[in-house]
Formats: sequence, C-alpha cells, structure tokens
Amino acid sequence: MRVYLDNAATTPIRPEVLECYIDTLKLIGNPSSVHSSGQQVRQVLEEARESLAKSLDCDRSEVLFTSGGTESDNLAIKGIYWQRRDEDANRNVVISAGTEHHGVIDPIEWLEAHEVAEVQLVPVNFDGELDLSWLAKYLEENHSKVALISLMWANNETGVVTDIKAVTTLANAFGIPVHTDAVAAFGHVQTSFKESGLAAMSISAHKLGGPVGIGALIVSRATKLVSIIHGGGQERGMRSGTMNAPAAKAFAMAAEIAVRTLDEERARLAGIKNTLVEKAKTINSSLGHTAEKADTLPNIVHFTLAGGSGDSLLFLLDQDGISVSTGSACQAGVNRPSHVLIAMGRTEDEAKGCLRITLGHESTESDIEALLASLPKAIDATLKAGLSSQ
Ligand SMILES: Cc1ncc(COP(=O)(O)O)c(C=O)c1O
Repeated sequence: MRVYLDNAATTPIRPEVLECYIDTLKLIGNPSSVHSSGQQVRQVLEEARESLAKSLDCDRSEVLFTSGGTESDNLAIKGIYWQRRDEDANRNVVISAGTEHHGVIDPIEWLEAHEVAEVQLVPVNFDGELDLSWLAKYLEENHSKVALISLMWANNETGVVTDIKAVTTLANAFGIPVHTDAVAAFGHVQTSFKESGLAAMSISAHKLGGPVGIGALIVSRATKLVSIIHGGGQERGMRSGTMNAPAAKAFAMAAEIAVRTLDEERARLAGIKNTLVEKAKTINSSLGHTAEKADTLPNIVHFTLAGGSGDSLLFLLDQDGISVSTGSACQAGVNRPSHVLIAMGRTEDEAKGCLRITLGHESTESDIEALLASLPKAIDATLKAGLSSQ
C-alpha cells in the first residue's frame, strides 16, 4: 500500500463525493437551456451554489464557478486591475508577496510586462510571515496609486497563515480591494467571507476532497471586475462557458463536509503533525522545521535539510512507496529551488533541500510511522551523495 502525503498537491476525492459526481454526470441538459432537461441541471447548479455559499459564509450571488484556483486567481487579479484602471488610470500598483503561488505571481508579472502595472512586494521574514507594518506605511503614502492587493490566506508550501482581516482592515480604510488565494486555506481554517472584508477569494475543489477542474471565485457584491473570458455570458457575464453542474455539486458536497468537520479534523491533523515534527527532531540535526515560529496550517509540515537535496529525498521515499513533495506541484519537473523559500531569505542551496509533507482526510498516524521509518536512511543517503558531489 502506498502512503500518500502530498495532499496540498491534490487530495483523494472522498468516496461519497465521487459517487454523487458520477450520478450527476448522468444528467442530460445544458443549464442554460430553457427546456425541463436543462432546467433540471440548472437546479443542480444553483443548489450547489447555495450550499457552497453557506460553507463560505457569503451570498449565493457572490459565488462564480471557475475551472479551479489558477483561473480564479487570474480572473480576480486581471479583472480587478482592469476595472480599477478603467475608473482611474493612475491606479497601476499591484501589491503582493514573493511567497505567493504562481497562479498569483504570473498574472501579476504579466500585468507588469503588458499592462504597465507596478508591482510592490510586502517583505517576508525568515518564518514566512508578512511585514504588515510595511504595508501600513506603503498604503499611507501611496494609496491613491494602488489598484489592488493580492495576498494568500495560507501558503501551500510552508503552511504559513496570514492574518487576512489585518490586511483588509488596512486596505479598506483607503477603499482598496483585497483578493486572497484561499486554495490552501479553505477547509483547513475558518474562512468566513462575510467577516473577512475581502473583495475576492479563490478556492479549488481538488484540495479538499472534491474533483479536479472546478473552483470558484467569490466576489463581494461591492466589487466590480472586468471579465477575462468572453462568450455566452454565463456566471453573470463574468465567466462565459457552459457551467459544469456535476463538478459544482461534487465541489459543494466536499466543501460542506470539510467545513462541518473542520474543528475535529484540525485537532486530529495537528496531533499527527506534532508527532512528525517532534520525532523528526531526533532523526538528524541537519533536518530543520521551516517556519517553526509562524502560525501554520495543521496539515502542512515543511522541513529543510541542510546540505541535502529535496529531489533526492523525494525519489528515495518514492522508492519506499511514500509520496511527498519538495514544494508546489505546479512546478513539478522544473529543477529550480522553491521561490517561496528564496523569498523567505534562504539561499538557493538551502532552498534545494526542502521536503513538504501534507496531510489530508485519509492521513493517519500509521502513514507518519511509515515515513519516519524510511526517512533516516533516505536522509543519510542524500547527505552522503551531497558530500561526494562537492
Ligand atoms: C495556493 C494555491 N493556489 C492556486 C493553486 C492552483 O489551483 P488549481 O490547481 O485548482 O488551478 C494551487 C494548487 O496547487 C495552490 O496550492
């Protein structure tokens, strides 16, 4: 039996969600068709929207279904940027951070290259925490130039959680919209959209036991954005394309379970994480717990191995039947050190030695025991290979 410890890349779909997904796929009809077959599918879609809105503590009209986190991030960042520039051409500053997911970094860099955006990055400390006093000072002095702020709710590599309410309190004093990528956070921390003060929030189903290929952008009723996909005018004209009702239903179901069981699951995963962190300390002094002092998600454990290669560790553990990762799966196959660790002040060599273990609804103490049994040998081999290549 393989041990799967890469749930931040994607989680196994929950069995009851899979069953509901397959059943709903059998329905025939386009939700925009006026005949009863179409309207039956429309009802499935709208019930999913209603249910997701409840899980997110937002209004149903604020839920826009998309294909996932990347599309939601692109729609929020480009859509709000263009809207704000349309209203005032002087607003071209986008504030973000070097620790963001590429779903956020790349559209912002695209706006910088093609749409005269000026990018300002909030400084990040050694534990991955944002310097919000810098943000307060920057906004005080430059608020009239700022188009939007995009800062993630929780980091998908280190698990570091941002105080989003503190960010929106600073920004909203100047009427600046804040977008957050909550793909890693949703289902693992309380994420009330209503209380957050956010303009927009990205989420994705396959990170919490739902299917791949469906996500949502939650857009507050006060927020306007320019559409980036044009066509049939679905999703209030903001995201054209036939809506995926079966996936939306499965997403809403997975989200409902994740939110309903959040407190007990947080406590359960925190217990497993604690066992791993404590036992890992006794394995090898070169293995350090990254972001040790920060507030982190209970399902993400990130280590840095001084003098070792995360890629080798991943390969050796894989041979023992254990799936882990070195960072974001979206960069898989690209042999570059993690930009997140670089932004946190690590050198390229230090950033190459990272190991990310991420837990999910199927993870158990015995998965961690299997990892702890394989880890010492894998670390020794990795460090020896590192020494011999010097
Ligand atoms: C924080 C974060 N944002 C965005 C994404 C992209 O989401 P999706 O795979 O649904 O496009 C991911 C996926 O790894 C993520 O972890």
